[in-house]
Amino acid sequence: MTGTETETPRRGARGALRQPPEVRAMFDRIVRRYDLMNRLMSLGRDVAWRRLAAREAVAGGARQVLDVATGTADLALELARQGAPHVVGADFSRGMLELAADKIRGRGASIRLLQADAMALPFPDGAFDACTVAFGLRNMPDYEAAVVEMARVLRPGGRLVVLEMTPLRVPVLRTLFRWYFDRLVPLIGGLISGDRDAYRYLPTSVSAFPPAEELAAIMTRAGLATVRYQYLMMRTVALHVGVKPGTTPR
Ligand SMILES: C[S@@+](CC[C@H](N)C(=O)[O-])C[C@H]1O[C@@H](n2cnc3c(N)ncnc32)[C@H](O)[C@@H]1O
Repeated sequence: MTGTETETPRRGARGALRQPPEVRAMFDRIVRRYDLMNRLMSLGRDVAWRRLAAREAVAGGARQVLDVATGTADLALELARQGAPHVVGADFSRGMLELAADKIRGRGASIRLLQADAMALPFPDGAFDACTVAFGLRNMPDYEAAVVEMARVLRPGGRLVVLEMTPLRVPVLRTLFRWYFDRLVPLIGGLISGDRDAYRYLPTSVSAFPPAEELAAIMTRAGLATVRYQYLMMRTVALHVGVKPGTTPR
């Protein structure tokens, strides 16, 4: 497929993207059934993907880890479970954070939550050994600026780990996946969460998102080095890892 063929529909799709206040209101609305829908849509695989993302983040003994767009804290909880002693979860949706706080209390974990916009994180430069974002970047108004902001709060040598849906470009699979994602997911999402619109928006935000190699280029432009990625779930999900150049005496 040529560059032109992939770019045109995506540029159109970007026009359908929602502004941050609408995105926040949408997550506030769907919070109650959010975790259940994740398990259903991914056929239970999302748990393993977050486990893998957490493993990448804590590799090298990260102690201070920030999970951006933490939602109901599934990745933050996994980071703590894998041994990160200081985990912070940030999200701009009050509803998601309230559910996250209940889950964290229920599991006896120690994770600090705060309401914050990923585009302007309330932390100094170099504050974290690792920063993660799972299924959040796609919802942000400027992917590149968001990556630059997450890279800013990493110490030299720190890792950025991005787990995200990725536009599928394998022809036959794409047709199947579009049927599943454009028709079945909104139907089931509507029945379970009562908000069909939110689950209709999901495929829109995925179509507009850069393919894996382009996201890797965005991360490299943001100053991250040795950027690599792997596909998951028949190339519908990608896990990217980049390292901020330099070393910090610890
Ligand atoms: C699809 S959920 C992902 C939640 C969680 N990371 C997970 O793996 O399930 C996307 C989350 O991103 C948050 N979000 C989207 N844009 C944001 C922004 N600009 N700043 C902070 N949080 C944002 C939403 O509130 C929502 O909780």
